[in-house]
Amino acid sequence: MYSPHIRLDAKDVPRRWYNSRKDLPEELPPPRDPEGTDSRIQKIREITPKTLQEQDVMEERWLDIPEEILEKYLVIGRPTPLYRARNLERYLDTPARIYFKREDLLCTGSFKPNTSLAQAYYVKKEGYKGVVTQTGAGQWGTSVALACAQYGLSCTVFMPEVSFNQKPYRRIHSQIFGAEFLPSPSRHTKSGRALLEKMPDHPGSVNSGISDALEFAMENEGICYLNGSNAMHTLLHNTVIGLETEVQLKLAGEKPDVLIACVGGGSNLGGFMMPFLKDRLQNKLRFLAVESTAAPRLTQGTYRYEHGDPGKLTPLNKAYTLGTDFVPPRMHVGGLRQHGGSPLVSLLRHLGYLEAVAYEQSDVFACGRIFTKVEGILPAPETCHAIKGVFHEAYEAKEEGKERVIVACFSGHGFLDLEGYEAVLFGNDQNNQN
Ligand SMILES: Cc1ncc(COP(=O)(O)O)c(C=O)c1O
Repeated sequence: MYSPHIRLDAKDVPRRWYNSRKDLPEELPPPRDPEGTDSRIQKIREITPKTLQEQDVMEERWLDIPEEILEKYLVIGRPTPLYRARNLERYLDTPARIYFKREDLLCTGSFKPNTSLAQAYYVKKEGYKGVVTQTGAGQWGTSVALACAQYGLSCTVFMPEVSFNQKPYRRIHSQIFGAEFLPSPSRHTKSGRALLEKMPDHPGSVNSGISDALEFAMENEGICYLNGSNAMHTLLHNTVIGLETEVQLKLAGEKPDVLIACVGGGSNLGGFMMPFLKDRLQNKLRFLAVESTAAPRLTQGTYRYEHGDPGKLTPLNKAYTLGTDFVPPRMHVGGLRQHGGSPLVSLLRHLGYLEAVAYEQSDVFACGRIFTKVEGILPAPETCHAIKGVFHEAYEAKEEGKERVIVACFSGHGFLDLEGYEAVLFGNDQNNQN
């Protein structure tokens, strides 16, 4: 009987992460300090595990995954299946063949443990007693909480005030692991207080969480800062997604025409797409990023050097940005509410190798609802953006009357995002500003 799942065995879990730095068409612009200021680069180095700093600048194309992390990958559910969405193909009445890489099946419900477990492994090895980080919708925070529980580390997570209130269950899930969640902007940090002074009802964002978390790490001995999204090492660890997908597509006898992922900081997109970089540079396939109209960096931002946080504690990185003063509206897609993004993803966009499109919250949730009805799988709101991109590609294939192999990263499930579905679909949304 036909199975829609293309599965791999435990022995097929990738043994190496892929580092794309050497294969990029242009060198990645390095971070830099604003002129005439203290070295932020140095300050961030002091609170970042050395191994992760080395991975950020490594030149080698491949890095062996330590055996202990491989074992953890098996525990959390790797390898994940590649799923052919035949019901959706029928529903859309398209000649396209549609595949999803099911990262929602990992134990915390998203792709995030691919790097949180790796990062916590190095944190422990380097002798830190705990970590601090920020989260958007809570998926990253929960995955760091899981990793810290595995390695006996303390875990503090700053979460945008809007998600802190909208998503109590991610917070509770993380508390079960032993983590502490705090709302951002925080009254306990200088940068948090400065934001609240300017805007007392500031909803917070991933970036305000970065300011709070950096300050926390700088002031607490033995605590290091973990980056959830846009650093090179987070993309590196997530390449297990794309490496598995490559093998699975070969098993299915398919050559992809387009890869699609939603984009916040850029780690699911980077991890999913970078293993296909060589094919992209040879124009054998397309890369499509889907973002939210509520934080449209790649479609409306400018490509320039900018701080990663409103408190301006990070060095300047070259990326698409809406500016540090940009405050994303209170919408239900916490993981995509950012003013800036990953330097690597931005470079690909700048050079024309990454297409980008932005969709509105109501359209995106409507697609998520259709997907849930026809496939029975409930996507996270962030993932719904990728699904909306899939709809668009499938309709285009239909109009052209041509086959198209569409492969998307299914970055997370939506079991703990039901309040967003209720608010946007069933009409009691005071925060729907799209
Ligand atoms: C389910 C899910 N998908 C995607 C993202 C976007 O993150 P990134 O752009 O780093 O992949 C998030 C971020 O929180 C998320 O929770």
